[in-house]
Amino acid sequence: MNTVEPRGRLGLRPAIENLTPQLIREVSLVGQGVPDVIALWFGEPDLPTPKVVRDAAAKALADGQTFYNPNRGIAPLREELAVYNSRLYGRKIETERVTVTPSGVQAIMQTGQAIIDPGDDVLAVAPLWPNCREIVHIMSGGCRTMMLDFKDGRWSLDLDRLFSMVRPNTRLLMVNSPNNPTGWTMTGEEQKAMIEFCRQRGIWIMSDEVYARLVFSGAAAAPSFLEHADPEDRVIVVNSFSKPWAMTGWRVGWLVHPPALAKTFEMLGEYNMSCATTFAQHGAVAALKFGEDFVAQSVARYRQGRDIVHQRLSANPRVRIGRPDGAFYAFFAVDGMTDSLKAAKDLVLKAHVGLSPGAAFGPECEGYLRLCFAKSAETVTTAIDRIEDFIAKEMK
Ligand SMILES: Cc1ncc(COP(=O)(O)O)c(C=O)c1O
Repeated sequence: MNTVEPRGRLGLRPAIENLTPQLIREVSLVGQGVPDVIALWFGEPDLPTPKVVRDAAAKALADGQTFYNPNRGIAPLREELAVYNSRLYGRKIETERVTVTPSGVQAIMQTGQAIIDPGDDVLAVAPLWPNCREIVHIMSGGCRTMMLDFKDGRWSLDLDRLFSMVRPNTRLLMVNSPNNPTGWTMTGEEQKAMIEFCRQRGIWIMSDEVYARLVFSGAAAAPSFLEHADPEDRVIVVNSFSKPWAMTGWRVGWLVHPPALAKTFEMLGEYNMSCATTFAQHGAVAALKFGEDFVAQSVARYRQGRDIVHQRLSANPRVRIGRPDGAFYAFFAVDGMTDSLKAAKDLVLKAHVGLSPGAAFGPECEGYLRLCFAKSAETVTTAIDRIEDFIAKEMK
């Protein structure tokens, strides 16, 4: 006889039954069938993956690269990633520390699986990409957040306040810089202080650096934990091909971790997805070798999108917006708007513009909307025309 108590309506783990739908997807579903929607809800550019990358994957496919590959990725990609990270951050990153994953989100999932036990506390800097929060919940961990501050048009992190929130059962600090959705970018000094604090307490850091290359300061990349952490530090850096090379549908990401975790991620790779898609990884090698021009052109294009959105919306007295230093989002609040999910749905149906609701990024972000400006100047301008019209007529 089965003596196990039924645990939820579906008989599943409560952690799974309590998962919340991703609100960005929810808004995009409302937009299905709505004609001429300008879709700025997802974080992806409107240009295709560079041809050199597509050609490399097509060649791999034609050459029969259609079988399983090693759990931690094909050797040429891991080696190229070690060279790429070492070059970018001026510090030798050994291939042994690099694990290829089937996407950035899978890299976060495997990090969560490696670290979080039921009841463990995870402290994250908010706004927090919704998937991070739910991954903690899937692992039956608790996720607390501390919101960035917004003052004089700039987002900033109060590190002392963050540190004061750490509890005895805090196992992991999560930080994403450049930040989705604010564009806030952590400084090297802040990263050093966080490493030092966590080093003394044995706390892990997961640094999500998927927007590292999308910075508007002219630098090649945003400051990285890889510049400051020693190989043995409890620091795991998450990255992805999705954003810098317009490869969101390819599902290839990577982790840089302490060398001692190589076997762990080999096993987690095996038991999750076994490996990332083989021919997609051959495309990823080409992105690293030949994709720098594309990154530079993309950053110039996104800077233009950022400036249009910022100039237009910051001139609107009802809108509160900062100028993002990185990533490709504008995150703005509108006076009097208190239900961002409803506002985002209304915007789709009435103004035919698809934005993400701030509420997706945590309760602290209610009252905000996120717009992805990785589009042509013309598309961004038309979207802002529609949004301003909507604010004037529908958000009185
Ligand atoms: C902050 C952040 N981290 C990670 C990811 C994961 O990217 P992917 O799974 O496409 O590699 C995203 C995607 O939007 C993101 O915004």
